[in-house]
Amino acid sequence: MTKLRTGEPWQPADVYGRSLRGLSLNLVVRSVTESVAFYEQTLTLRRLYSDEDFAAFAGHGLRLMLHADHTYGRMPTGRHVAEGLRGAGVEIRLLGPSPDHAALCAAQCGGEVLLPPTEFAHGWRECHVSDPSGYVFVVGEPTAEPERKGGGVRLRPLQGEDADTVLAVLDAWWGGRSMTPRLPRLFFEYFSDASFAAEDGESGRLLGFLCGFFATGDSERAYIHFVGVDPAERGRGIGRLLYERFFAAARAAGRTSVTAITAPVNTASVAFHQAMGFHLVPGDRIEMGLPVHTGREGPGTSHVVFRREV
Ligand SMILES: CC(C)(COP(=O)(O)OP(=O)(O)OC[C@H]1O[C@@H](n2cnc3c(N)ncnc32)[C@H](O)[C@@H]1OP(=O)(O)O)[C@@H](O)C(=O)NCCC(=O)NCCS
Repeated sequence: MTKLRTGEPWQPADVYGRSLRGLSLNLVVRSVTESVAFYEQTLTLRRLYSDEDFAAFAGHGLRLMLHADHTYGRMPTGRHVAEGLRGAGVEIRLLGPSPDHAALCAAQCGGEVLLPPTEFAHGWRECHVSDPSGYVFVVGEPTAEPERKGGGVRLRPLQGEDADTVLAVLDAWWGGRSMTPRLPRLFFEYFSDASFAAEDGESGRLLGFLCGFFATGDSERAYIHFVGVDPAERGRGIGRLLYERFFAAARAAGRTSVTAITAPVNTASVAFHQAMGFHLVPGDRIEMGLPVHTGREGPGTSHVVFRREV
């Protein structure tokens, strides 16, 4: 027997199969029906579909499928349906779901708490839980960042009142280019979950800022609109700190890719983005040796588009 479902599936298997990208997980479980609550409630994944044979989930940058043991009846690899606990030697790590929530929820969902929420030096506060078949998940949230490369620098969410400080120095920080029309106040007021200020740990003086946001129509993408560092403070790692803080926030929000753009004349920005691990998205023309996207931001414009997985 390979399936119990009698009706039509939610979508043809090949359609779903082709929609997957990169790494996805497929766990063979004793019972899909008894496992769904663990994945939906303890790990807070979105359930895309489930029946007695199969379930699909997404969230926190993960695509996960469950197949019931009986669906593997004809597979030659019998160890998938071994007796005893599953997942020996593997620990699946998810940065995003709350470890405290997982600890409270796991037992009610047929799982087990193996290690209660604990803060580790590797930057995670994490809880180890197992699903009803024994698969071990480590769910965690990033801990507060220690001050390091940019010593004495404190990061915090950007707020509405930062707009006055930033807009007063913006053009000067961009070497006299007129940038203020491209950074309306709304970026300071409505995107504080994805926008950060870097300030001097003692005086509170603004050293740099990042304005970004998470796409609303695409749950996997995030965008960095502006990043700027005081010219007197450049080259000491503040831009990197701001970007890494954004990447962590994006991951925690389940985002998998970050996009940014810049003008091809901004060679410092191109070098910075390349150092930060972005690749240049192929464009429709080459300018200054770079692939550019012409007309993307209006007639007569050309921009370099960067993308990076997080
Ligand atoms: C781009 C900018 C934000 C970089 O900030 P920063 O604090 O000086 O950058 P960091 O010191 O964190 O550098 C991070 C990495 O980028 C590299 N980098 C930064 N500026 C660079 C430059 N001008 N040329 C070559 N590499 C550069 C650094 O070498 C570093 O790499 P590493 O960590 O591998 O050694 C800053 O120059 C700036 O504010 N520029 C004006 C505003 C702007 O153009 N913003 C981008 C478009 S929105």
